Amino acid sequence: MKNLAYLKKFYKKKLMDAGIIDYDQETISLLSYSLKKSNIEIITENNFLVSENHLIQIDKFISKRIKGIPLAYITNERVFFNEKFYVNENVLIPRFETEELVKKFIDFYKDSKIKGKRLLDIGTGSGVIPIILEKKIPYLEFYALDKSSKAIEVAKKNIFIHKSKITLINDEIKNSKLDSIDFVLSNPPYIKSANLSNLPIDVKNEPSLALDGGTNGIEVIKEIFEWESEINKNNASYILIEIDSQIYEETKILTNKYYPNKKKTFIKDLNSNIRFVSIT
Ligand SMILES: C[S@@+](CC[C@H](N)C(=O)[O-])C[C@H]1O[C@@H](n2cnc3c(N)ncnc32)[C@H](O)[C@@H]1O
Repeated sequence: MKNLAYLKKFYKKKLMDAGIIDYDQETISLLSYSLKKSNIEIITENNFLVSENHLIQIDKFISKRIKGIPLAYITNERVFFNEKFYVNENVLIPRFETEELVKKFIDFYKDSKIKGKRLLDIGTGSGVIPIILEKKIPYLEFYALDKSSKAIEVAKKNIFIHKSKITLINDEIKNSKLDSIDFVLSNPPYIKSANLSNLPIDVKNEPSLALDGGTNGIEVIKEIFEWESEINKNNASYILIEIDSQIYEETKILTNKYYPNKKKTFIKDLNSNIRFVSIT
């Protein structure tokens, strides 16, 4: 048996040597997850003795992490907007930037005179966007769509955990017949295919369906606009899509083509990077 003081030092060094930037916090999180203790208990209970069985399990988790499996996939948990969500390797790990997207919609909805009822999240993954929005604006009707049936399973689990009433749709946006949607939100895959091989190992372990935006990075965004004009008949009074600076020019051309008479706003995130486009 080894005590926690020894194990913290030992695993922190292992993760640090493997180049894991947040090695300190990740060691605490993995020990906390394995031993079912809070982070504070892991930090303070230096003399706590860890059994051989637990050591085998912790070693397994540390090896996975060293191989580039993200922490959230090991612990099956991600905090988003202060709420816990179930995640696994079939969904993108929700990012901080996407919390900003949620916040932007809440601010828009509260400040705007535009009212509507039906909101669609395209490419919902774990379902974090509509689940949080439903808690904040419960009187809207929420729809969440994803092409991946495995992602839909994860969203279903989170909908159950959060006692949510969102309608899930397992389809590609281009095949969807859903209409009369007032608000369209999406964090689509937007990385150019050629750039996928340059991503950090952790990100490469996320589903390529959640990352790969096709040759120009805008394949799914184009599908969204086509659906919105053909099936939704341009009914959406507000569209908010997460992007990045690599696809700024392509997105600008696309929004001008599909929405020549609407207001297009490119919005920066808290790190001053272009991150969202809104269309009203
Ligand atoms: C970047 S992830 C976003 C997941 C989640 N909304 C989030 O922000 O954490 C993009 C999601 O879009 C889905 N997707 C990719 N292509 C799609 C398409 N053509 N139609 C619908 N969903 C699609 C993927 O399966 C993936 O779950």
